[in-house]
Amino acid sequence: AGRMSEPAEILAAILAFFSVDRPLTGRRALVTSGPTLEPIDPVRFLGNRSSGRQGHAIAAALAAAGADTVLVSGPTALADPVGVEVRRVETAVEMLEASREALPSDVVVCVAAVADWRPAEAGQHKIKKDGGAPPTIRLVENPDVVATLAAAGEGRPALVVGFAAETEDVVANATTKRERKGCDWIVANDVSSTAGTIGGDRNAVHLVTSSGVEEWPTMDKTEVAERLVARIADHFEGSSDRN
Ligand code: C5P
Repeated sequence: AGRMSEPAEILAAILAFFSVDRPLTGRRALVTSGPTLEPIDPVRFLGNRSSGRQGHAIAAALAAAGADTVLVSGPTALADPVGVEVRRVETAVEMLEASREALPSDVVVCVAAVADWRPAEAGQHKIKKDGGAPPTIRLVENPDVVATLAAAGEGRPALVVGFAAETEDVVANATTKRERKGCDWIVANDVSSTAGTIGGDRNAVHLVTSSGVEEWPTMDKTEVAERLVARIADHFEGSSDRN
């Protein structure tokens, strides 16, 4: 009371008020975003450069299109997208657990840069330099969040979208990944190009579906989000199934 709402919230409320087109109203959406951080000891971790910008933008666009949206996010410096329920996690195991808890969902978009491996044992105490040989960190494989959700049997979301950051053979690798992970769609980006640099504002992507590959022009991550959400809305148009 007595405090001004955040400008982003005011803008979202105005857009929602004037928006006649909320095609995902009544649908549930789940998005994963950001990096995961895998502890080595209480002060150190293995992480990556994901900013969360693309995933957060997709969650915001889904909410703006009327979907009841949950965002499961690793640590980022971003503000929570307006109108989205945010569940914060650190590790891949926590991300999978929070994602499962957010089901059922009609559409899942997994954008998070999940660590493929985690240290087998996270020390209870800070590892000390004792003048001896440097420590060896043994890694174990993390669960694959998108593949697990895509395989979820009866409660499987109707549309599972994965992302693929590739540095070579972008489309070929994304096509194989779509099948291997059981995703319906893969959004592939070339992270070796300037446009697709991890942590940047813009993205150059291909959308890989069962009916082929679309090359999208380089655009801001918010535009990629809006275009993807428009495609998701088209996909559901006319279908009455809801999770
Ligand atoms: O195998 P790769 O990491 O390239 O696959 C990327 C896609 O898989 C993204 O959608 C990412 O969010 C998802 N992923 C996941 N869990 C993992 C690894 C990747 O959900 N452990």
